[in-house]
Amino acid sequence: MTTYGLTPGLMDRLRGDHARIAGVVREFMEQSDAAVSILDWQRLSELIEFLDYYADQVHHPLEDRLFDQLVDRGLTPIERHLVFKNLREHQEIRAMTEVLANQIQLAKKGGAITRDEFVETAAEYVNLQRRHMNFEDSRLFPLLEAQINDKDWGVLSGVLHEEEGLTRENHK
Ligand SMILES: [Fe+2]
Repeated sequence: MTTYGLTPGLMDRLRGDHARIAGVVREFMEQSDAAVSILDWQRLSELIEFLDYYADQVHHPLEDRLFDQLVDRGLTPIERHLVFKNLREHQEIRAMTEVLANQIQLAKKGGAITRDEFVETAAEYVNLQRRHMNFEDSRLFPLLEAQINDKDWGVLSGVLHEEEGLTRENHK
């Protein structure tokens, strides 16, 4: 396997995203801990909103685009399996974010939710998010760095910047 020895901006961005997401996941864990006597639904809703937007709608789709590039690059069957496993995990995380966001919204409006069930689901979610990021950091990011060359990074960065520019235009 050739290693290009690059530290492209995109990899820095992905690692920076992980650090930000991990910080929010940590606060979410503290706020939803079984030992907390009164859950702060307002704060929990802000945290889950960030995870829904930043992890599920920005960071994971960006990774999906990059990992898509890997699939046709002569990966071993095991490496291909890792890429597809990761795509499925993004869907799994998104589904859990939605479940938790709905429960939090309901609780905020004074609706009846089972606290034990919420705390248990929140703990599973925190574990999943952490396990997932560790998996990407240790297995998938090295694959990306090894397989994507200078020219690819240039093209990918260009496409992504263009898309971000268009998105900003649409929001004006
Ligand atoms: Fe990630």
